[in-house]
Amino acid sequence: MEPRTVTLHDCDFDTYICEEEIIAHITMMGEQLDKDYADKNPLFLAVLNGSFMFAADLMKRISIASEISFIRLSSYKDMQSTGTVKEILGLSEEVKGRHVVVLEDIVDTGHTVHGLLQQLEAKEPASLEVATLLLKPDCLQHDLKIRYVAKSIPNDFVVGYGLDYNGLGRNLRDIYKIVS
Ligand code: IMP
Ligand code: MG
Repeated sequence: MEPRTVTLHDCDFDTYICEEEIIAHITMMGEQLDKDYADKNPLFLAVLNGSFMFAADLMKRISIASEISFIRLSSYKDMQSTGTVKEILGLSEEVKGRHVVVLEDIVDTGHTVHGLLQQLEAKEPASLEVATLLLKPDCLQHDLKIRYVAKSIPNDFVVGYGLDYNGLGRNLRDIYKIVS
């Protein structure tokens, strides 16, 4: 892949993970989910906004009976996690007794997923797992078990493929990392 730089607001970003690699990881994740959730009719809950592209590409690679719904829950401002957990918005499906898989774009400190899992756990799902496109293991501040990870990355701020920097960059096909 030709290195390419994009400028979003006041920051420069270089190409980091190309679309082909992202899709390869997502294809493997889809195959694993197909195996693990055969006959379970899982309910995928994609966390907006960041996971929309990941969720779409993953769902195209899931062949078992399954459902998807989109929720909102964000605690991120600029490049620093605020640590505040907000409530789940837009969840109209009954979670009780369902096999739920949360679809996240990226797990950084883990505050967001931790808060989300606590709230979902209270609704008594049959099972509850997380599938994330990216994980920054060095940043995790919670003892979270993230069952499905497409790719682990170092502690760099990234954009593209659904991920944004203050609203920009979600449309980029590849993932870019900040030039430091
Ligand atoms: P956490 O609560 O610190 O784990 O942060 C999770 C949320 O912060 C993600 O769902 C993203 O929306 C956002 N986030 C974390 N790291 C990045 C990044 O490198 N680029 C863009 N958004 C990020
Ligand atoms: Mg997010």
